[in-house]
Amino acid sequence: MLDAKKIREDFPILKRRVNDKPLVYLDNAATSQKPLQVVQALADYYTLHNANIHRGIHALSEESTALYEGVREKTARFIGAPKPTMVIFTRNTTESINLVSHSWGLKHLRQGDEILLTEMEHHSNLVPWQILAQRKGLRLKFIPVVTDGRLDMGAVPGLLEGRTKLVSLTLMSNVLGTINPVKEIIQMAHAKGIPVLVDGAQAVPHMPVNVVDLNCDFLAFSSHKMLGPTGVGVLYAKEAILEEMDPFLSGGDMIKDVWLDHSTWNDLPWKFEAGTPNIADVIAFGAAIDYLKGIGMPEIRAHEAELTRTTLEKLRQVEGITVYGPMDPAVRGGAVSFNVQDLHPHDLGQILDDAGIAIRAGHHCCKPLMRKLGVVATARASFYLYNTLEEADLLVAALRKAKEIFSVVSRR
Ligand SMILES: Cc1ncc(COP(=O)(O)O)c(C=O)c1O
Repeated sequence: MLDAKKIREDFPILKRRVNDKPLVYLDNAATSQKPLQVVQALADYYTLHNANIHRGIHALSEESTALYEGVREKTARFIGAPKPTMVIFTRNTTESINLVSHSWGLKHLRQGDEILLTEMEHHSNLVPWQILAQRKGLRLKFIPVVTDGRLDMGAVPGLLEGRTKLVSLTLMSNVLGTINPVKEIIQMAHAKGIPVLVDGAQAVPHMPVNVVDLNCDFLAFSSHKMLGPTGVGVLYAKEAILEEMDPFLSGGDMIKDVWLDHSTWNDLPWKFEAGTPNIADVIAFGAAIDYLKGIGMPEIRAHEAELTRTTLEKLRQVEGITVYGPMDPAVRGGAVSFNVQDLHPHDLGQILDDAGIAIRAGHHCCKPLMRKLGVVATARASFYLYNTLEEADLLVAALRKAKEIFSVVSRR
């Protein structure tokens, strides 16, 4: 098991007090905190190596290029990608999905074609497909979410029929915590020749994810949810697919040759990285990957499963709390959404903030899922490797107290 107390030493922010209470940071599904190692990598880059990459022939530029491309190799190894050229740096998961909708979707989809999503997708894996559907006359279809927050797998074979040309779904729900049987869905889709995009924004930071094992065609995720800086996203895709895709953004660096009336494209992966990239943050993202690997992804998953199991068990004992998503920690991650009686999640968030506990309240960029659950919003606590069982207890105690305060106020 990992030593969360020791890990916390690397995160000075976790020593902060908020509203005169020790900070309990449970908003990790939104963004994670950053260890000193990542902050140091950022400072080192700007202090010692700063230069633009790929073009210069001076020492600093060569160093920066080597550091940046080294992180591409590290990222490829982290997700089991066979080659670093299958890894493209973007700004975030959202941009990675937009890249696919533009560069793959605009080229390959025709009027009447269908894209299969799920009812639990984050807006960033829904809105890009809606816009593409409007432009190209496509139809969107959805795998339903059933009562315990899992996908209706019985519906999948039927939904893959017709003119389905792409499946795009999340590996782990940011609201329900559900870990979807994506490998199984990919096998079913591939049997019909349909490629699959996996939104790994919540899964890649919290569990081992291997693109060869999954056999996904695309995988998108964000650095900032996995101890790295904001402003760095990853798109992995199979080589043959990337080769035939058109560029996304265009300009410097993504070209091989340019004439006044036309241009030719650079090799992979640079064809998809126009302009000066986020060099410093990519390099610091490398330090985040080193940190996660040093702890071990199976260990992180086991630690969070334990925190989630304990939290779910304790929440179950509190009358008036509704928890959304599967109750079995084996099929879910550490994002736990709930509502307390008629207390608005924003009010609940405020009460918890007074106690130094940071959670999220709102629709979590999943408005269609909120409608399906019959709520306008939920409160969400989400764990990471540095959270402790004591913090889970503090959360449950604060919720009990919030319930009491609310019952007194509503009786008045
Ligand atoms: C499942 C899921 N997909 C996509 C995203 C979007 O990530 P980003 O804002 O880094 O683009 C999020 C962010 O919360 C998410 O939880």
